[in-house]
Amino acid sequence: MDNRPIGVFDSGLGGLTVVRQLLRKLPGEDIVYFGDTGRVPYGTRSPETIEKYTRQDSRFLLSRDVKMIIAACGTVSSVAPHILRELPVPAMGVVDPTADAAVKASPSGRIGILGTPATIRSASFERRIREVRPEAEVHAVACPLFVPLVENGWIELDNEATVAAARRYLEPLAAKGVDTLILGCTHYPLLAPVISAVMGPDVILVDSGEACAALCAERLEQDDALNRTKRAGMCHFYVSDLPDDFTHVARMFLGRDVDGDTERVDIETLTDA
Ligand code: DGL
Repeated sequence: MDNRPIGVFDSGLGGLTVVRQLLRKLPGEDIVYFGDTGRVPYGTRSPETIEKYTRQDSRFLLSRDVKMIIAACGTVSSVAPHILRELPVPAMGVVDPTADAAVKASPSGRIGILGTPATIRSASFERRIREVRPEAEVHAVACPLFVPLVENGWIELDNEATVAAARRYLEPLAAKGVDTLILGCTHYPLLAPVISAVMGPDVILVDSGEACAALCAERLEQDDALNRTKRAGMCHFYVSDLPDDFTHVARMFLGRDVDGDTERVDIETLTDA
């Protein structure tokens, strides 16, 4: 048994879609979340910058004495998995569990991938899909406008700007006949209704939350590191800048109120030592 918290980080609030599933799957675990809201988005940055941010975010979580680190960010998981592998605690990203879930779900093997420009450039999801199902037909599309739309809460089906962006990105993909679509960025589950409206109701959407929470539970079980104190877990939230209306936007991601305080940390100063 290991009662230390699980550390989760993302470039912003998208990783809360993974926390939401962790809370369902592992209700007894404490969670420390860091959202780099001062430096979001990561997905349009260079690999060197994403690597540096990954080191700093992980170092911050390690300073909170976490037993495991989850990079709840498609971009970090795609561009900096080698940094995660070097950490002194078990660490995981979202690519492998999400790609595996999509391969399992897809009847025809025609799979679409949506992600940030850095994620799509890295071809991380595509590589994993081909490892597991070599004959799969894969179509990947970068959607750079989705993250800012989501961070601003523009997720409703009647939001014209969001629907226009979704049509531009997704219509070519729908024309290819994919039956399964990976939401390869942890912000995108909030756009699921809009994405489904464009792709059609039969296309299966696979996001990182559930697959990632299941793998996390499996790893903790294997390592005998589950928190078995039989009380409800607690969450602590840290951000590098307080976005306007943080509580409201975080609530959308988490599907429930953000209890307690959200602390702001100076990530550059704290982790540069
Ligand atoms: N949630 C991050 C991801 O999954 C957001 C991307 C970004 O910061 O650009 O890729």
